[in-house]
Amino acid sequence: MTAENSQTIYLKDYQAPAYLVDHVALEFDLHPTATRVRSTVKFRPNPNSSSSEFFLHGENLTLLSAYINGAAVTPVITEAGLSCTVPDGPFIWQSEVEINPSANTELSGLYMSNGMFCTQCEAEGFRRITYYPDRPDVMAPFDVTIHSDLPYALSNGEPMRDEGQTRRWQDPWPKPAYLFALVAGEFQVVSDHFTTASGKPVDLNIYVRDGDQDKCAFALEALKASMAWDERVYGREYDLSVFNIVAVDDFNMGAMENKGLNIFNSSAVLASPETTVDGNFERIEAIIAHEYFHNWTGNRITCRDWFQLCLKEGLTVFRDQQFSADMRGAEVRRIEDVAALRGRQFREDSGPLAHPVRPESFVEINNFYTATVYEKGAELIRMLKLLVGDAAYKKALDLYFARHDGQACTIEDWLAVFTDVTGQDLSQFKLWYSQAGTPIVTVRDHFADGTYELTLTQVTPPTPGQPNKQPLVIPVALGLLYPDGTEALDTQLLVLTEAEQSFRFSGLHAAPIPSLLRGFSAPVIMQRETRQAEHLVQLTHDPDLFNRFEASRELGKSALLAMLQTEAAPDDAYCGALLQVMINEDLDPAFRAMCCALPGQDEIARALAEQGQTPDPVAIDAAVHQLSEHLARQGLEALQALYHAHQLTGPFSPDAASCGARALSALALRLISHVDGGALAAKQFARADTMTLQLPALGNLNRHGQGTEAVAQFYQQWRHERLVIDKWFSLQVTTCPANKAVAVARDLLKHPDFNLKNPNRFRALIGALAMTPAAFHQADGSAYNLVADQLIALDDINPQLCARMTTVFETWRRYDGARQALMRAALSRLAAKPNLSRDTKEMVTRLLD
Ligand code: ARG
Ligand code: ZN
Repeated sequence: MTAENSQTIYLKDYQAPAYLVDHVALEFDLHPTATRVRSTVKFRPNPNSSSSEFFLHGENLTLLSAYINGAAVTPVITEAGLSCTVPDGPFIWQSEVEINPSANTELSGLYMSNGMFCTQCEAEGFRRITYYPDRPDVMAPFDVTIHSDLPYALSNGEPMRDEGQTRRWQDPWPKPAYLFALVAGEFQVVSDHFTTASGKPVDLNIYVRDGDQDKCAFALEALKASMAWDERVYGREYDLSVFNIVAVDDFNMGAMENKGLNIFNSSAVLASPETTVDGNFERIEAIIAHEYFHNWTGNRITCRDWFQLCLKEGLTVFRDQQFSADMRGAEVRRIEDVAALRGRQFREDSGPLAHPVRPESFVEINNFYTATVYEKGAELIRMLKLLVGDAAYKKALDLYFARHDGQACTIEDWLAVFTDVTGQDLSQFKLWYSQAGTPIVTVRDHFADGTYELTLTQVTPPTPGQPNKQPLVIPVALGLLYPDGTEALDTQLLVLTEAEQSFRFSGLHAAPIPSLLRGFSAPVIMQRETRQAEHLVQLTHDPDLFNRFEASRELGKSALLAMLQTEAAPDDAYCGALLQVMINEDLDPAFRAMCCALPGQDEIARALAEQGQTPDPVAIDAAVHQLSEHLARQGLEALQALYHAHQLTGPFSPDAASCGARALSALALRLISHVDGGALAAKQFARADTMTLQLPALGNLNRHGQGTEAVAQFYQQWRHERLVIDKWFSLQVTTCPANKAVAVARDLLKHPDFNLKNPNRFRALIGALAMTPAAFHQADGSAYNLVADQLIALDDINPQLCARMTTVFETWRRYDGARQALMRAALSRLAAKPNLSRDTKEMVTRLLD
C-alpha cells in the first residue's frame, strides 16, 4: 500500500472544487471483461475557488485517450487519478477508458452479478468507472448511452427512444457522480403505475431474475405507499416519469438511492409468504421507503462532502421511521427502533470505534456508513423536532427544501433553517453532531411535603480523540405515576442543558414513580437505582408503552444479573408479570411479543459492562436458558392457550396486526419448546406453509437438539431459493448449542453453497456466528480464529465488507483478560496480512488503538 492511498482526510481541510461540471455525456460499450467508457464533460472554472488545478479521480482504469477541446492531451496519472494542464475558462474534456467488470469483486464501481452488469458508486465508486471529479459537491445533468446486446440496459433519469442495441437515458436533474447507476442484463419486469398529487403519471418497474417475478408485489405496494406518504407528510412529489428498481444478488449494503434507478440487494426487495419472514417484510417496506425518500433528502438536496453524510442519512432514516410508524404503529415501531439503536449504536459508541455523527476525519469513507451516522443521526432529528415542536419542524423542512433544492449542503445549512424559523440558538444542540459517546444521565429524586424533586446529572464518557465532553441539550419527556398506577402528572418536556439540574413538582399526594424519557426522547443511558416495585407498576400501568417495555427490560436485566452475580433463582415476580402482560387482551399482540421477550444476550453483557463488571457470555447464555425454562414452566398452560389463540386462518398477509399475532404465538412456541423439547415446534414445522411459521419452528427444533432431519429436509425444499438458503446457513450456527457452533460453521464453510464472494452468504454464516455471543465468545478463542481466518481470505476479494465485519470485535475491551488477549491476537493476525486493504487497515488500527 502506498502512503498516498492511506491518507487521513479532514473536514477542516474542505475546499470548494476548482472546476464545476455543466454537463456529462457517458457512452458505454459493455463487455464483461473489457468495457469501454467514453466521457465528454463540460467543465468551467468555479468562481468560488481560487485554485485552477485540474484533477480527476480515477482508480483501476486504463486510459486509452484524452482530449481537451478536441486536442489530444497526455495527463499525469497516479493511483488516485490524473492531472492535466487546462485552458483558462470553460473547456470540454473527453476520455476513453477500459475497465474489467468481471474482475471487480469489491462490488464498487461497475461489476458483474449473475451475468448482469450493475454499479455501486456511493461513496467513491464512480472513479472506478471513469475519470471524473468524484465528489458530491460537483453536480451535473447526465446523458448516458449504452451499447449492449442484452435485453435491458438502464441508467438514471428518462429513457430516450430505443435504438436497438443502443439505449439512451437522460437525467435532467443535476446530480453528483455517486448517484450514477447503470444496469444491464436479462430480467423479468414487474410493473405498476403511480399518479402524483399534481397528476403526473409515473411508471414503476422492478427488474428481477427469472423466477423472482412472484416476489415483487409487496415492494411495489410499499413503493406506492412511500410515494403517497412523502406527498402527504412532506409535500414532496416524484420528479421523473419512471422509477426503476433492480434486485441484485451481490451487493455490499441494503440498497442504493441512485436517481430514478434504485439498486437493491435482493434480500431488501424480494418477498413472498413462502420464502420471507414477517421481519423481512417490515425491513423491505422500510428500505423501499428509505431509498425512495432519498430522492428529496439526498438527491435533490445532497451533501457537500462525505463528512456531512448524516445530512442525508440521518434525515432519511428519520423519515423512514416516521413512515413505518404510520404504516405499522408508532409505539411498536419506536420500541424496535430503540432496540436496534441500543444494540448497534450504543455498542459502537461505547467502544474503540466511537465517532461523532458528523466525523471530523476518515481514511476510508465507507467505514463511516455506521449506526452512529444513520441511527444516531436520526435520533438527533427526532430530538430537534421534539424541541422546536411539530409546526416549526414542518416550516423548517419546507424552508430547507425551498432554499437548498439542487444544492450540496452541510449540517450548518440544515441547522440554519431551524434557527431561521424559530429564532432559537442551536449552538449547544449542535454539539450532538460533533461529540461522540452516549451521555449517561443519572437520576436522584426525593419527595417531601407534596413536592417531588428530580435531579438529573449528565456525563458523556471519553471516546477516542475526545477526552473531555461538554453538557448537551437533552430533552427528557417525563410523566409521574402514583404507586397505585394512576397518573400524577401528564407527559412534560424537561430540557436538560447543564451538567446538573433539578426540577420540582408540587401538589402531589404521595411519592410518585417517575416515568422518564418517555418514547425514548433522547439517545442517552438513564441510570437510576433499580426499584423493582416501581418497575412492576410501570410494566402494567405506564400510559407510555415505550416505558412499559423499558420496565420489562429493566426487570429482565435485574433478574438475569441477580442470577449471574449471586446465583439467585429466576425471579418469580418478573415471570408472573410477564405472563400477565402476555395474556392481556387489551394490549396489541405485537407490543406484548416485544415487551415479553427476554433481553438479548449482548444487552445483558452491555448492562454488566456499564456497571463496571466483566460479562461471561457462556454464563449469560446459560442464565437466559434457565430463565426461559422457568418462565415457560410457570406459565405453560397460559402459553399453550396463547399459542393456539393466535393461530391465524385464511390467506397470509404481512400487515401489522397479522405480524403481531404471529410474533406473539412465536414467543409462546419458543417458550413452550423449553418444556416440551420441541414437540409442538415439530407439529408447526410439519404443517407450515409460510416461512414465518416454518423458520422459527425449525429454530426451536434445532435449539433443543431435534433439528437434524428437519434441517436436511429444509435444505432439500429450498435449495434453489438463495435467500432462504442464507437463512438456512444462519439458523444452524445461531440455534445449535453454543459450544458446537464453530464445528457447525466449519462444516458449513465446506458446503458447496457457501461462497465467500457473495456478501449475503458471508454475513449469513460468518456474521451470524460472530453475532451470537455465546458462540462467538467460546473461551478457547476458536470462533475468533475462524472469523479472523475468513476475514483474511475476504480482504483481497471485498475490502469494504471485510472492514465492516471487523466490527464484530468492537466490544473486545468488555471481556476478561484471556478473551481480550485472544481477540487481540485474532485482530493482529488480520492486521499483519500482506497487502491489507486500506479499508480493513483503518478498522483494525482503530480497534486495537
Ligand atoms: N446511501 C445508501 C443508503 O443508505 C447506502 C450506500 C452505502 N454504500 C457504501 N458502499 N458505503 O441507502
Ligand atoms: Zn440512506
